[in-house]
Amino acid sequence: MSKKIEKTVTLDILTWKELGNDIQSLVLKAKASAENAHAPYSNFMVGAALLLENGEIFTANNQENVSFPVGICAERVVLSYVQANFPDIIPTKIAIAAKRRNQTEYATVTPCGICRQTISEYEQKFKRPIEVYMLTPKGEVLKAPSMDDLLPFKFSDING
Ligand code: THU
Repeated sequence: MSKKIEKTVTLDILTWKELGNDIQSLVLKAKASAENAHAPYSNFMVGAALLLENGEIFTANNQENVSFPVGICAERVVLSYVQANFPDIIPTKIAIAAKRRNQTEYATVTPCGICRQTISEYEQKFKRPIEVYMLTPKGEVLKAPSMDDLLPFKFSDING
């Protein structure tokens, strides 16, 4: 039999009640931020709320562009802003919520590959996992404990 490297990835499915007050508040902030998305091309409005170790929360949303590839996902907008302005404060948790314009129901959203690599960058910078909370249409929230679960075998120049 050939040799293998195996990794198991796991997402927790949490009901709203199972979330602590801090995560509920983070998800609500992500939902509110989605309303301000600049998404005239996809009409897919995404909000992200980032909790820092000092308890502060920052939010952002996707910013699209008429030249489509220029658009930036909500997760990278908030992470870039926070890292640019507070480079020494550890990001610990991020919540994401998305819905299509004019729909009331939320869509399931998981971070795209570029955002996963970006989140991974800051995990490596601070040597700490970043938990990701992803809202689903039923109001349940998927939790990834770290990028190990969303981006196994990620690129890392330190072979981590
Ligand atoms: N988008 C995000 O902002 N975050 C995600 O996790 C998934 C996708 C944005 C990119 C684009 O503006 C729109 O959603 C549709 O793909």
